[in-house]
Amino acid sequence: MGERDNFSNRFGALVALIGSAVGLGNLWRFPYLVGRNGGAAFIIIYICIVLVICLPLMLCEMVVGRRSKSNVFGAFRKLAPGSHWNIIGILAVLSAVTILSFYSVVGGWTLAYLVKSLGFGFHAVAKGDGAAFSGIFKDFVTSPVQPLLYTLAFMAITGFVVIFGVNRGIEKTSKWMMPIMLVMIVGIVIWSMTLPGSSAGFRYLFKPDFSHVGWNTVLAALGQAFFSLSLGAGTIMTYASYIRKDENILRISAGTVLGDTVFAILAGCAIMPAVFSYGVSPAQGPGLVFVVLPNIFANMPMGSIIAIMFFIILFFAAITSSISLMEVPVAFLIEECHMKRKTAVLVSFVSILALGCVCSLSQGVLGGVKIFGKSIFDFFDFMSANIFMTIGGLLLVIFVGWKLGKAAFKDEMTNGGRLHGANWLLDFFFFIIKFAAPAVIAVIFFTNLI
Ligand code: PFF
Repeated sequence: MGERDNFSNRFGALVALIGSAVGLGNLWRFPYLVGRNGGAAFIIIYICIVLVICLPLMLCEMVVGRRSKSNVFGAFRKLAPGSHWNIIGILAVLSAVTILSFYSVVGGWTLAYLVKSLGFGFHAVAKGDGAAFSGIFKDFVTSPVQPLLYTLAFMAITGFVVIFGVNRGIEKTSKWMMPIMLVMIVGIVIWSMTLPGSSAGFRYLFKPDFSHVGWNTVLAALGQAFFSLSLGAGTIMTYASYIRKDENILRISAGTVLGDTVFAILAGCAIMPAVFSYGVSPAQGPGLVFVVLPNIFANMPMGSIIAIMFFIILFFAAITSSISLMEVPVAFLIEECHMKRKTAVLVSFVSILALGCVCSLSQGVLGGVKIFGKSIFDFFDFMSANIFMTIGGLLLVIFVGWKLGKAAFKDEMTNGGRLHGANWLLDFFFFIIKFAAPAVIAVIFFTNLI
């Protein structure tokens, strides 16, 4: 095992972290959750949760990762030798692998739709025929072979990036993909603004209506914030272990949170005005980006160009998140099982692909197979989001709050006292980590279970 890689500077770390955070969660899930949960009211609750609960949790991952400079399992051996805290590391690897198993399937769909948009495929479908678009999507995801090939291609691209390592693979890829995504999404927002009747979409996004807000809204926002910020799956911890000792991890965390949230809102601004302008319901479920949007693109001025841009964004977003997920088991295998990076990538690739194929087939031929009443795909989603990520997150805040302690937390946050200022802020965050976050995460966990 050679020298451990590092991100080359703050910008490199930041784009990689934002790349992990910005993903299908922002573009695929956030807009429809906003649509279902009362528009701006949801966004306001979401932002509060992100700042008060998720940012402190991200700091925990940062502190553990950067302090130990180890993979998710080795981190706890270094920080709490001889203890069982490394169970958090096992949970993190399990989370990353289960998430990637179904994420790679949806990643494959984005690739397929990108290919379709490049061939101007949506225009071939009868204009305005919503049923046709939903038929195409259904036929595609339930067919036995095509989605598997796209999942395979998506995972192969992920593996290809991860093989090159932290610097030449992950950082380099994020450095060109993220700016392109930003420019393109801003372009689509501007396009969306020019559509007739689009203002209704903006009003919907930004005019708060708290009349439909309930406990479920808060839970939905919490779950989404967790997923969107890649918390509880070991990715932040793993990436943090590649951050140099002289970087300011508070700033990097704040930058990641800001970047992810801005991106989610931009996605809303790109999608909702078009949805309103076209007169479809904003409360569409997961089919929003694969059914409703292609239909809109096929019917709008410049739609084919916008479709290509949109699916490039979606694909880039998925791939940068996917590489961060794959790096978790890869770093674990390299450091704990003494594998070469290439072997570690191959082992991860094959195992995740096998699970991914099962997830993909569960949309069609394996549709009859149910685990606790859920399809395999939904079961993986449920296990990762509701069990592994939440328990992992819960144990992590308890670890930092009660075992690692305030002195070590502050020491890492301030780079051994070399960074000054914001002392009260660190006290505040530590208070949340120690008392509020465990309670809140435990409540989410049990409510979701019931
Ligand atoms: N944050 C990613 C998204 O919003 O799509 C998903 C994700 C990536 C979740 C990495 C968890 C993770 F560790």
